Amino acid sequence: MRHTPESNTTQLNSAVSSLDGVNDPRSAVRRRFLVLAAAATGTVGAGVAAWPFIASFRPSAKARALGAPVQVNLSRLEPGQQITVTWRGQPLWVLHRTPQMLERLNHDHWLQNLRDPGSSVETQQPAYAKNATRSIRPQYLVVTALCTHLGCVPLFRPQVPDLELGADWMGGYYCPCHGSRFDLAGRVVKDVPAPTNLIVPPHRFLDGNTLEVGVDYV
Ligand code: FES
Repeated sequence: MRHTPESNTTQLNSAVSSLDGVNDPRSAVRRRFLVLAAAATGTVGAGVAAWPFIASFRPSAKARALGAPVQVNLSRLEPGQQITVTWRGQPLWVLHRTPQMLERLNHDHWLQNLRDPGSSVETQQPAYAKNATRSIRPQYLVVTALCTHLGCVPLFRPQVPDLELGADWMGGYYCPCHGSRFDLAGRVVKDVPAPTNLIVPPHRFLDGNTLEVGVDYV
């Protein structure tokens, strides 16, 4: 069986979703383990599919664990593709959005489905990502891959239509643990358990193809 970053994450999310009793301390421990495993596996999976991304990480693994910035080479990340990287022990997604994905983000009827379409919760993104695409460069979404409900890793569901997720689904992320949904800007849908949008970490672009996570854009 061929393992991709998405399939690894999907399998782990399936495992997470099967956990019973979210208030059970043993379940909490198991869930955290699986989240950490997802972070590690996502990075390994990305390495199999796209070695140049891993090769571009300059700090050592120990330095990264302590919070050192992480550099990512985006030159081979094609429109529509997403990669999982790790920063401070947490998985992050870098998605190269297509023009169609960007166009769908701001349909009027979609914006009415969102709990915080204007990114009003200050803790969820730096000021430079408080805009219509929650990004510095519209085509690149950089977001923490942890559901803002209880920290599961959501599934990447960019397909449109996707009737399982609703007739009006515009592509995004689905958390199978308790059903939270987010769009391709990481904005949370109304009436789901997750209270806020996904977190955009501090980041900047060093040149046309190099992203650095962990340092603010100025
Ligand atoms: S962890 Fe509960 S919906 Fe994501």
